Amino acid sequence: MELVCRLTLAFSLALFVGATNAVNPGFVVRLTQKGLDYARQEGMSVLQQELSKIHLPDFSGSTKKQHIKFKYSFNSMVIRSFQLPTSQISLVPNVGLKLSISGAFIQVDGKWKVHSKILSGKGNFDLKVEGLSISVGLQLGSDASGRPTISPSDCSCHISDVKIHVSGKFSWLVDVFHKSIDNALRKDIEGKICPVVTQSISSKLQPLLQTLPVTAKIDSVAAIDYSLTGPPPVTAQSLDVQLKGEFFNIAHRTPPPFSPPTLSLPADPGLMVYFGVSDYLFNTAGFVYQSAGKIESYITDDMIPKNFSVHLNTSSFGILIPMLSKMYPNMLMKLKISTPSAPFLTIEPGNLTTSPIMEIQAYVILPNSTLAPLFLLNLTTTIMVKVSVNSGRIVGDLELSRIEMELVHSDIGPFSVGVLNTAVNYYISSILLPEVNEILQRGYPLPLLDHIQLTDVIIKPSEHFLLFGANVQYG
Ligand SMILES: *[C@@H]1O[C@H](CO)[C@@H](O)[C@H](O)[C@H]1NC(C)=O
Ligand SMILES: *[C@@H]1O[C@H](CO)[C@@H](O)[C@H](O)[C@H]1NC(C)=O
Ligand SMILES: *[C@@H]1O[C@H](CO)[C@@H](O)[C@H](O)[C@H]1NC(C)=O
Ligand SMILES: *[C@@H]1O[C@H](CO)[C@@H](O)[C@H](O)[C@H]1NC(C)=O
Ligand SMILES: *[C@@H]1O[C@H](CO)[C@@H](O)[C@H](O)[C@H]1NC(C)=O
Repeated sequence: MELVCRLTLAFSLALFVGATNAVNPGFVVRLTQKGLDYARQEGMSVLQQELSKIHLPDFSGSTKKQHIKFKYSFNSMVIRSFQLPTSQISLVPNVGLKLSISGAFIQVDGKWKVHSKILSGKGNFDLKVEGLSISVGLQLGSDASGRPTISPSDCSCHISDVKIHVSGKFSWLVDVFHKSIDNALRKDIEGKICPVVTQSISSKLQPLLQTLPVTAKIDSVAAIDYSLTGPPPVTAQSLDVQLKGEFFNIAHRTPPPFSPPTLSLPADPGLMVYFGVSDYLFNTAGFVYQSAGKIESYITDDMIPKNFSVHLNTSSFGILIPMLSKMYPNMLMKLKISTPSAPFLTIEPGNLTTSPIMEIQAYVILPNSTLAPLFLLNLTTTIMVKVSVNSGRIVGDLELSRIEMELVHSDIGPFSVGVLNTAVNYYISSILLPEVNEILQRGYPLPLLDHIQLTDVIIKPSEHFLLFGANVQYG
């Protein structure tokens, strides 16, 4: 007994430690009640179509009335209409979702036959099934590939009333034993509905969830991991789908040297879906490209507009640094801009900034095309980042707001870096950033299911994450 207790205790502790050690997501998709209601509406029309296709098998039996045996059969039954006027989806905290349908009704047409020793009759009938209610639980989980799963549980179905109306010769015969027929038909139809409901969930909803792009390839270097970190937690207000939200190097993945912060999405039920994009996602991007040596760019004279005063040649620069034109008269120059460390994005309420440290190495291009180093500058910058959502992608735009320079090393003797202010400001804000912005305008895909479009998008920088809110359109 004591051993069992100890084992149970150890196991609970392990679970508890496991839970507190759980990795924060880098990306959260929050579905609100409004979003679930929209999904329910879309789902109801699919379910209605599926239920209308139910095949009701022929149905026969016999009964005795005043020592006379009657055999009856009902056949060629066709569902003329299957209406689901009222439905509701509710969040069941820590469990999942519950779909309840009430007041549904069915209209069925068919043929009847009654046969006995003394008389027989046949004709048509129409059947009204009323007060049909269906209740089904939806359990949410995640599979080995990190995609969301949904499975039906506890389906129940109840019909409160079946009304049969018969026509044809001796139709009163049916009325004589309609009670037993009503009951049998009710049982029959009740038994057909839950299998169709659970089958629709497995064959229509589950495949849709499986379209979540768990790996979104960005370019030849990087991809985003959008796999689920675990089964989606459900509270009374919302359903959160927690994704890893991490850039990784396609060729060789290494864990980033920092972890995702806790995201606390506000309880704002105004829109259908909210996306919380952690600064972790952006910072893993910086880490991946930096480690792959991809944050490096060159500026050459042909990139500088004709009308800009400072050209990348030693005559032009020689006006600012006279030593330069003396040592290397009339030669072209080239700049290499790189970041010695991965740039970090800071997300605060109200604004997004990144303050990358950049290095500019200047070279002169010798007549035999080799590069001779001239000087190395250290730049501390502040760049404002504007983000928006365009066709389901996060797009960005950078704008330089501050730059400070330091001369780290010179091969042409000492000079005051202040003389380079205008030129360097121009190169960064008018040549480098537009190039980066062109890449950022292509954007990064949000993890959306197939056929989902976002409307009414709002964006709100919050502490450590960007909050996007939107309404959804399916189709
Ligand atoms: C250079 O010319 C372009 C138009 O061709 C103009 O937009 C830009 O402001 C000019 N730049 C300078 C520094 O005069
Ligand atoms: C250097 O740039 C100036 C404009 O600032 C231009 O007049 C000159 O021809 C250029 N020299 C070379 C070698 O390209
Ligand atoms: C960004 O927002 C913070 C907090 O509101 C503020 O302190 C800071 O000055 C802002 N930075 C810029 C560049 O606007
Ligand atoms: C290019 O010219 C420079 C200076 O004249 C010389 O030091 C260097 O060795 C030359 N490089 C090649 C590859 O010829
Ligand atoms: C470059 O600037 C950063 C930030 O000001 C500083 O931490 C770093 O030491 C500087 N590097 C050199 C080589 O001066």
